[in-house]
Amino acid sequence: MTDSADQIEAGATASPFAGRRVLLGVSGGIAAYKAVILCRLMMDAGAHVMPVMTAAAQRFVGRATFDALASERVKTSIFGEDDPIPHTTLGQTADVVVVAPATARVIGSYAAGISEGLLTASLLATRAPVVVCPAMHTEMWEHDAVQHNIEVLRGRGVRLVVPEAGRLAGGDIGTGRLAEPATIFAAVSEVLAELPAPDPAHQPPPPRRDFAGVRVTVSAGGTREAIDPVRFIGNRSSGKQGYAIATAARDRGAEVTLVTSASLPPPEGVREVRVESAAEMDAAVSAHADAEVIVMAAAVADFRPADIAPQKIKKGSPAERAEAPVIVLEHTKDILAGLGAAKPPGQVLVGFAAETADVLDNAAQKLERKNLDVMVANDVSAAGAGFAHDTNIVTILLADGTVRPLPICSKREVADAVLDAVAELRQ
Ligand code: CTP
Repeated sequence: MTDSADQIEAGATASPFAGRRVLLGVSGGIAAYKAVILCRLMMDAGAHVMPVMTAAAQRFVGRATFDALASERVKTSIFGEDDPIPHTTLGQTADVVVVAPATARVIGSYAAGISEGLLTASLLATRAPVVVCPAMHTEMWEHDAVQHNIEVLRGRGVRLVVPEAGRLAGGDIGTGRLAEPATIFAAVSEVLAELPAPDPAHQPPPPRRDFAGVRVTVSAGGTREAIDPVRFIGNRSSGKQGYAIATAARDRGAEVTLVTSASLPPPEGVREVRVESAAEMDAAVSAHADAEVIVMAAAVADFRPADIAPQKIKKGSPAERAEAPVIVLEHTKDILAGLGAAKPPGQVLVGFAAETADVLDNAAQKLERKNLDVMVANDVSAAGAGFAHDTNIVTILLADGTVRPLPICSKREVADAVLDAVAELRQ
């Protein structure tokens, strides 16, 4: 780290950043690398940094850099994350929003009140003070439109850290260079120092990192067993519960492999292996069976057509329709039972029991039969539970006989409760 970082670190005890939540917005420009240094400075000064990158920013700096440095993983989109309204959550919980570098596009959208991505949506959704640090070519910076937008923002109380003169992308020299990280850091310090002291009661608990470095394999979705090239036997599983487990494990620091037959967008930062049939799921899960934790949340088909017709089965002419085809089924392999039989010492194996009757008894029997450590009993026929819902009603059973019923809650809350049980067993 630079001298300036060390000097600032030395004074961190009286830091206005201590306990403050900073939304660090990074938009696309060669200066995005300076945001990495700024992030580190603010983290070292005691801030909780929540990074948001635009798509263009990711062309300049990898998200993994901010994932590793910041307090939370990078958010990039309004959609596809586990929080359905990330822009309002970020905007409401931030003590200050810093945009560095801020491109002409982000400045223009913000000034015009147009939300065209997570960063600009968060800027519009926050009431926290905002510090904007422009960076662009001289011609753009001096353009009437950009200067007009800057004045609009200034007039609304946005704090500007104006660009400096120096070398720009492509070797040009002029005004437009992002201010140095230490300059931005000082400006944000001033803004924070003006705020009332943080109320400890309103501080969210620090994110748990109790799975840091732990390899977790999760299966999700319902498998599809081909009848012919166009038809399959499937089931009603949406994959949402498995995805929630993968996301929660990731957030708690795990290295997650998600073996999935669901058509949901993959959680960021999770290794995704796409499969279709039970046999493919078996192969993919087996390839990642050396994980410390395996959670089989997938609804794996128990039967599949014994023969897959190589061509589409035709219904034939009306005269030939009397006899519908008979599809002969055969058993698939029970993946979880296989994992239980070969379970290495120290591994925690979790199953889900989708039941419609005698839920706890059936689940307890499966827990024992498959040599599991945790069984999540799921009454898929209950209102607000099971397939495709966003909520679930489950009871967590442990191999030692512990029975832990959960109230109706989100699939993410179920995921965290399951991981809590796993974490207890791993202690
Ligand atoms: N499972 C599996 N391989 C299968 C079937 C199920 O790995 N071929 C796993 C599921 O992922 C789940 C657990 O076993 O974690 C229980 O699945 P469930 O469908 O509830 O039970 P089954 O063992 O299939 O028994 P049944 O269908 O008779 O209820």
